[in-house]
Amino acid sequence: MPLDLGETGRYAEEQTTPPVPLLARLAEETRETLPSPGMLTGTVEGRFLELLVYGSGARRVLELGTYSGYSALSMAAGLARGGRIDTCEVDERHAEVARRYIGQSPYADRITIHVGPALDTIAGLEGEFDFVFIDADKPNYVNYYEAVLPRLSEHGFIAADNTLWSGRVLDESDDSEGTRGIRAFNEHVRADDRVVSVMLTVRDGVTLIRPRGGD
Ligand SMILES: C[S@@+](CC[C@H](N)C(=O)[O-])C[C@H]1O[C@@H](n2cnc3c(N)ncnc32)[C@H](O)[C@@H]1O
Repeated sequence: MPLDLGETGRYAEEQTTPPVPLLARLAEETRETLPSPGMLTGTVEGRFLELLVYGSGARRVLELGTYSGYSALSMAAGLARGGRIDTCEVDERHAEVARRYIGQSPYADRITIHVGPALDTIAGLEGEFDFVFIDADKPNYVNYYEAVLPRLSEHGFIAADNTLWSGRVLDESDDSEGTRGIRAFNEHVRADDRVVSVMLTVRDGVTLIRPRGGD
């Protein structure tokens, strides 16, 4: 089910630069053919990710959870010259759609899709990351965080998606796996003295996290 943006959310979307035609087509195909199209980041968060990547000058981006490629293509639009994105997806059906749209984009040589469990892919990738977008299975969020935190470059940072989980994090009667995963992640990050974080109410909640450094 698509996320209900509410009146101010719809207004924010209307006041945001619309997606390029390729991304609009990708969103349409995703809604028509793939299960759970509500997972698509969409206009506001896509532009937000693009601007985070652009503003930080990130050259090495890691994404956990490609789905149909909307967020990978959004981030690619903000990449610094010579930059690249590794994106992880476990479901070949999702990866096939992403591959097709990335192939038609100007960023085909900058995005690599790794099909398989993201934790295995992270372990097999070399080097440091300037920006990591965590958006795969919720029960693994703490594991993803612990796997990528030591791999950040000097000014590297993390964005984690869905940290408000449609408000279900506040519903004490909700004990589902996804809700427990997101709650555990939020509490884990908040209690972690190694980092500084901010939870934003962008779309379904986006938490930005950076290592604390010497302060
Ligand atoms: C919320 S969607 C990602 C949405 C995408 N970032 C976008 O903006 O369109 C989560 C994706 O993570 C994938 N996924 C789930 N478990 C995974 C795992 N263990 N490793 C890699 N990908 C996984 C799912 O198949 C799904 O496509």
